[in-house]
Amino acid sequence: MTQVAITDTTLRDAHQSLIATRMRTRDMLPIAEKLDSVGFFSLEVWGGATFDVCIRFLNEDPWDRLRSLADEIRKTPLQMLLRGQNLVGYRHYPDDIVIKFVEKSAENGIEIFRVFDAVNDIRNMEVAITAAKKTGAHVQGTISYTISPVHTIETFVANARELASLDCDSICIKDMAGLISPHAAYDLIKTLKDEVGLPVDLHSHSTSGMAPMSYMAACKAGVDILDTAFSPFAGGTSQPPTETVVAGLDGTPYDTGLDLTLLTDIKEYFDGVKEKYRSILDPVSEKIDTSVLIHQIPGGMLSNLVSQLKEQNAMDRYDDVLQEMPKVREDLGYPPLVTPTSQIVGTQAVLNVLMGERYKVIPKEVRDYVSGIYGRPPAPINKQLLAKVLGDGAAITCRPADLLPPELEMRTKEAQELGIIGKEEDVLTYAIYPQIAPKFLMGEAEEEKLKSAAATGGSGVESHTGIFNKFKVVVDGEPFVVEVLATGAGEMTVANDAGDAKSPTASVEGGIASNMHGMVLGLKVSKGDVVEEGDVVAVIEAMKMENNIHSQHSGIVREIFVSEGDSVGAGDNLMSVY
Ligand code: CO
Repeated sequence: MTQVAITDTTLRDAHQSLIATRMRTRDMLPIAEKLDSVGFFSLEVWGGATFDVCIRFLNEDPWDRLRSLADEIRKTPLQMLLRGQNLVGYRHYPDDIVIKFVEKSAENGIEIFRVFDAVNDIRNMEVAITAAKKTGAHVQGTISYTISPVHTIETFVANARELASLDCDSICIKDMAGLISPHAAYDLIKTLKDEVGLPVDLHSHSTSGMAPMSYMAACKAGVDILDTAFSPFAGGTSQPPTETVVAGLDGTPYDTGLDLTLLTDIKEYFDGVKEKYRSILDPVSEKIDTSVLIHQIPGGMLSNLVSQLKEQNAMDRYDDVLQEMPKVREDLGYPPLVTPTSQIVGTQAVLNVLMGERYKVIPKEVRDYVSGIYGRPPAPINKQLLAKVLGDGAAITCRPADLLPPELEMRTKEAQELGIIGKEEDVLTYAIYPQIAPKFLMGEAEEEKLKSAAATGGSGVESHTGIFNKFKVVVDGEPFVVEVLATGAGEMTVANDAGDAKSPTASVEGGIASNMHGMVLGLKVSKGDVVEEGDVVAVIEAMKMENNIHSQHSGIVREIFVSEGDSVGAGDNLMSVY
C-alpha cells in the first residue's frame, strides 16, 4: 500500500532555487509526458517567481507555458505556489484582480493551489483561498515555517485551524530555509494530524542538510505528502532528491510505490538540461550551508546579501550585517524570512550597518511593513521603530487589501488603450506587472541570452538589473569586475574587485550625492526649484528598495546631472543646490 505521496517541484521551486528560475518551457515539454506517467501526487510547475521571470527575462508567456504543460500532463494534477494577496508579484493586489487571476489559473490548468502569506496573516490568504475553492481546485493552506520565540507548535496549529476553517483541503508546512529539525518536524506534524486532521505536506529545502532526516521523521509522524525534486536539480537550497527519497522509503510502511527505473530515466533527461544552464548555476546555492542553523538566513538571502554588499562596495561589513539581521528581524516582530519579508529584513540590516546608524535610512517597503500594509507581524514591532516610522499616526489594523480599490476595470481600459490585449489573461499579466508587461505583450522583449560558462566563470554572474551584465575577469591573478552596460554597444566600465578603483567623485558646489549605489527611480525637483534642507530631491532604487535622497542644504537647484533610469554609485553627485 502506498503510504506517502510525492509532489515533484523540478519545474518550479527546484530551478527557482538553483538557476534563478531560468528553465525554459522548451526544456520542460519533452519530458512532460514521462513525468505524468510516474504517479506523483502533483507536479509543482507554476507560480512563485516563474511568472515574473517568464515575462522579464525569458520572453515567454507564462499562460502559454501553463497551457502547454496541461496539454501534455493529463493525469497528474498541476500545482502552483500562490503568494496569497501578492499572487505572483511582490505587493498586495486588490481583490478583483486576485479573484480573476485565480479563476484564470484554474481555467488554464492549475488543479492544486498552494497558498501562503509571508507573515502567516490569514487575512492575506482568504480571498485567494475562497476563489480557488470556488473553481473546484484542491487548496493547500500553507504555514510559513520559522523559528522564533513567538513561533510555537500552538501558534502553527492555530494557523492550521484558521486554514481548515476556510475549507482548505490540506496543510503545507513551508520550510523555505530548511530549518525544520527531525524532532520539530515530528512534533509539529503529529500535532497537526491529531488536532486538525487534514492531510499534511512537508515542503523543505536541503540548505542545512537536515531535510532527508526530517522527511523520515515526518513519515513516522504520519505525513501524507513530501516535496522533492529530481536529483540534477535537488540538494542545496532546493528540495531533497526525488529518487533518493523514493529509494529510502522503499519497503517501509511509507513506501511511495514509485518506479525507481522510470525516475532514473527522467533524471538522465534533467542531467542534460542542467548542463545547458551550468553557467548560471550558483555553486553557493548547490552547497549544504550549515550557517543557516545559526543565522536562520535562507541560502537565497545570503547570496542576495553578498551581491548587495558587493554592489555597495562593502564586503568587509558582511559579518556586521549577519549580526544585525536577527536584530532587525526581532525589531520587526519576527517575520518568517520569505518573499517579500526576507528582502525587507535583509535590506534594512544592510542599511543599518552601512549608514553607521540604525534606521537612519528606512526604505518605503520597511515603512509599509511597519505601518501594517503587509499584515499583522507575528509579534509587536519595536516601539521606538514604530514611533520613528509612524510619528503620531497609527498602523492600520484592517485587512490590508481592504484599503485597495478595485483595479480590474481600470487596468483593462489601460491595456486596451495600449493595444496589448491578445487574450483575456493579458490584462492580468499587465495588472500584476504594469511596468514590464507592456514591452513583453507588444512583442518588444527579447529572450535573455545564456552566457557560456567560460565567459562568466560560474559564480561571477550578477543579475540585479535583470540581465547578466557583470562578469568577473581575472587578469594576472587579479580579479576585475567587468560591467557591460545596456546602453550603447561596446560601452564598458571596469572596476577593481578590491574596491579601491571607484571613480573619484568630483567636488561640485552644493553637490547632493547619492549615499548608495543604485538606479535613479525618480527626480523630485527640477532645475530652478527652491529646496529646503531635508527635502526629498530624488528616489534611488537600491537593493530592490526605494530610498529617498534628502537635500543636505537649502538653496536653488542649479544643475541636475542624472536622469531617471541612470545608474549611480555611492558618492556620485545627483545635482547641485546652492
Ligand atoms: Co520552497
